[in-house]
Amino acid sequence: MQQLGKANSANIETWLETINTYNSTPEFGTTRVLFTEPEVGARNYVKGEMKKLGMTIHEDAIGNIFGVYPGTDATLPPVWTGSHIDTVLNAGMFDGMSGVVAGLEAVRLIRESGISLRRSLVVVVYTSEEPTRFKLGCLGSRALAGKLDAAEAATLHDAAGKSLYEVLEQLGFPVQDFDLVKKKPGDVFAAVELHIDQTGVLERAGKTVGIVKTICAPTVLEVEVIGRQSHAGGTSMEERRDAYMAACELALVLENLGRHSDSEYTTVTVGKVEVIPNAVNVIPGKVVFSVDIRDCDYDKKNELVMKFRQAVSKVESERGVAVTIKMVNNDHPMGCSPKITQLIEKNCCQQDVPYMYTISGAFHDSMLVGDFAPVAMIFVPSHDGISHSPQEWTDFDDLAAGTDVLTGTLVALANA
Ligand code: GLV
Ligand code: MN
Ligand code: MN
Repeated sequence: MQQLGKANSANIETWLETINTYNSTPEFGTTRVLFTEPEVGARNYVKGEMKKLGMTIHEDAIGNIFGVYPGTDATLPPVWTGSHIDTVLNAGMFDGMSGVVAGLEAVRLIRESGISLRRSLVVVVYTSEEPTRFKLGCLGSRALAGKLDAAEAATLHDAAGKSLYEVLEQLGFPVQDFDLVKKKPGDVFAAVELHIDQTGVLERAGKTVGIVKTICAPTVLEVEVIGRQSHAGGTSMEERRDAYMAACELALVLENLGRHSDSEYTTVTVGKVEVIPNAVNVIPGKVVFSVDIRDCDYDKKNELVMKFRQAVSKVESERGVAVTIKMVNNDHPMGCSPKITQLIEKNCCQQDVPYMYTISGAFHDSMLVGDFAPVAMIFVPSHDGISHSPQEWTDFDDLAAGTDVLTGTLVALANA
């Protein structure tokens, strides 16, 4: 009987370090924003590595990359694995990339073992999981789930005013086929994503693998506060209508709502703030800030959003400012498939890998892929749980152990 070999941590390290050379901020962490030169370079590198592993490659209208390792029965729905290779600003080298590289190593192990798969195994690189360029996350998986179409792609603009649709068209993606991106239930048999843990829970518990039960989902708001721009010295404290101070009050109200939520998974973040005109001696007339609210419970998340809106009305009347709120996205938490999580657990037991069940506070492409396929996620430890930071670190041996569990799971699914 053919046997799977063990994942090679040196391969994983080489792939991750090479991807990491595609970086627009080598002096401070890793920055690889969607369709910038480093990101396109990393895409080409990954496609080259897929080809070396005998995979055929295709891309859809939104730029999702599919590396297909063929199964023996092309009529069966495939099994997917993979993640993303774009990053936030000044990130680390593991968030997203680990799942893509683990998929490559899984294909290498399967190929070298001589084990044949009934279903094709597809390594997917999802377009822009991070909301860095277009403020909306999970662009590729959102389109696959039918929640982002060509018309909406034309309304998403980057800081330079270019629309996602325009950028895709300029890069030669087949935007005329945007309607073909969407998948329906049954198109994909199962999808398993390996990712680093971004909470620290695995490291604290001394476990090598986390089996994700639920992926928390975000609501993202863009809040615009209009006050009155005026002179810092000439405007009395009574007269001023300071957009920045109103925004600060709203941020603190939000923090308070987050701290006192009765859901243990609530998080609230103001991560992006624009102050206009942003000058020492001018009372800001306008502030635009982002609000990111997460929860594993959709109703509790919506309740918190409603309370925030109520606070906004109060601050508007007390401070004489006008606030508008644009809802960027309001995603649904995703439950992982118990059938797949049990299979992952079985693989952990067979391979003697210490594991635990956990939840994901971060969102992932699997959150949207779960709309049309059963999904599961395998987490590997991250030092101190630090992520979205140059300090992000995962040991390559842990990645190799997680990849072994992933590979065993993918083989079982592909032959189910
Ligand atoms: C994805 O990176 C997230 O913000 O959870
Ligand atoms: Mn991330
Ligand atoms: Mn990620």
